Amino acid sequence: MTQSLVAPEATTDVLEEITVKEFHEKISRENDILLLDVRNDEDFEAWRIESRYTPETMHISYLIFAEDGPAALDDLPALMAIPDDREIIAVCAKGGASDFVAAILRDEGKTAVNLIDGMIAWGNYHVFRPVVEKEAYQIYQVDRIARGCLSHVLISQGKAAIIDPLRHVDNYTRFLDEKGVELSLLLDTHAHADHISGGPGLAETTGAGYYLHPYDAIHPFDMLPAVIDYEILQDGQELTLGDLTIRVLHTPGHTLGQVNFIATDSEGQSYAFTGDNIFIQSFGRPDLGGQGEAWAPIVYDTIFHRFKENVPEGTWILPGHYAAFDEANEQGVFTKQVADLWRDNIGLQFKHEDHFITYILTHLPDMPEQYIEIKRVNIGLTHPDEDAASELELGKNVCALADAYGG
Ligand SMILES: [Fe+2]
Ligand SMILES: [Fe+2]
Repeated sequence: MTQSLVAPEATTDVLEEITVKEFHEKISRENDILLLDVRNDEDFEAWRIESRYTPETMHISYLIFAEDGPAALDDLPALMAIPDDREIIAVCAKGGASDFVAAILRDEGKTAVNLIDGMIAWGNYHVFRPVVEKEAYQIYQVDRIARGCLSHVLISQGKAAIIDPLRHVDNYTRFLDEKGVELSLLLDTHAHADHISGGPGLAETTGAGYYLHPYDAIHPFDMLPAVIDYEILQDGQELTLGDLTIRVLHTPGHTLGQVNFIATDSEGQSYAFTGDNIFIQSFGRPDLGGQGEAWAPIVYDTIFHRFKENVPEGTWILPGHYAAFDEANEQGVFTKQVADLWRDNIGLQFKHEDHFITYILTHLPDMPEQYIEIKRVNIGLTHPDEDAASELELGKNVCALADAYGG
C-alpha cells in the first residue's frame, strides 16, 4: 500500500535542506557529494543535473520509499547502497518527494539534505559571471546551467543592454537594480527555437527597445508575421551603449534573420555575441526552420565568408550556448578569441564546402517537437502560462550539431 508523503518529524540542528544557490556552489568545485535523484525513470532519463563537477548520481525512484516505507530499508539492496559516510543531496521534480526521502535517510543516520524546489529550481537557476569589468564598461555572461543557455549583459555609462535575454527576467532586473543602471537595449540574435525570449516582455515592462531582424519575425513553418512590437535590425546598423558601439552583422543560416552583435570599445577591443551562429565548439544547425538542406549552404557562407571576413582575430566571441563544461575558461566563462576559435573549433576545420554541408546533413539531431511552438511564442503568436512555458523548455538545448565533440 502506498504511504502518504509525510516526512518523519524533523530533528533539530541538522541541516535538512539547501537552496539551489548553495547547491550550485557545492557542485562548482570538486566534491564527494552523492546526488540521489528520486524522480521517476522517464524524467531521470530525459534530463538530469550536470555541472562542471557533476556529483556521482544515484537514481532510486521515491516510489520505493513511499510504497515500502522506512521499515523495509534493510530489505532493499538499492537503499543499502546509499552510504552512511557521504553527504547526500536528494532531488526530485519540485522538492516534495525528495524532502520526504531525505528525512527518511536522516532517520537512518545518514547525512541527507533536500534541494529546495528540486529540478524546477535547478532549471531556472542563472549564474552571472564577469567577462570584463573596466571602468568604462562591463560585460557579464549569464549562464542558465541546466539548459546550456547563455545570455549577456553589457553596461556602460549608466545604461545596459541584454543580448538574448531568457524568460526569467527577474534575474536581470534584480542585477541591473543592484548595479543602479537603466535598461536601454534588448537584443535578440535571432528568434529562438529552444527557449522563450524574455525580450518582448521586458520591453513592455521597462520601455527599453526590443530588436529583432525582420526575417525572423515570420514563423518559418506557419508563415505568419510577428504580433510583437520590435525595432528592425539590419546588417551594418550601429547602436550605441555608452563607451561601446554595437555593430549588427547579418549571419543567416541557423535562422534566416540571425545576426551577430559586434561590440567595440573606444580602444578598438571587440566582443562578438554570436548567438547560435558559432559556438566554442561546433556551430548552429540549419534545420530548425524546417529547411536544413536549403539553409546548410547559407551556414557555410556565413561562417567562412561573412564571419571570417568581418570579425577580427582579436575579437572575443561570446556564444548563445555550450554543450560541455570544459568549453569554459578558468573563470567559468564561455569565451574564446577568434584566432583560437579557427584553430580549435572542430566544426570549422573543413576545407571544402561540399564536405562541410555533408557533415552538417549527416549530423543533425532530431528536432524536439516543441521547438515549433517555442518559435510561435517568441513572435507573439501564442502565450503559454508558466507551467506550459516551463514544459516547453524542459531539458538541454539541441541547437548545435550532434557529435561535434568527437563522440
Ligand atoms: Fe537558435
Ligand atoms: Fe539556441
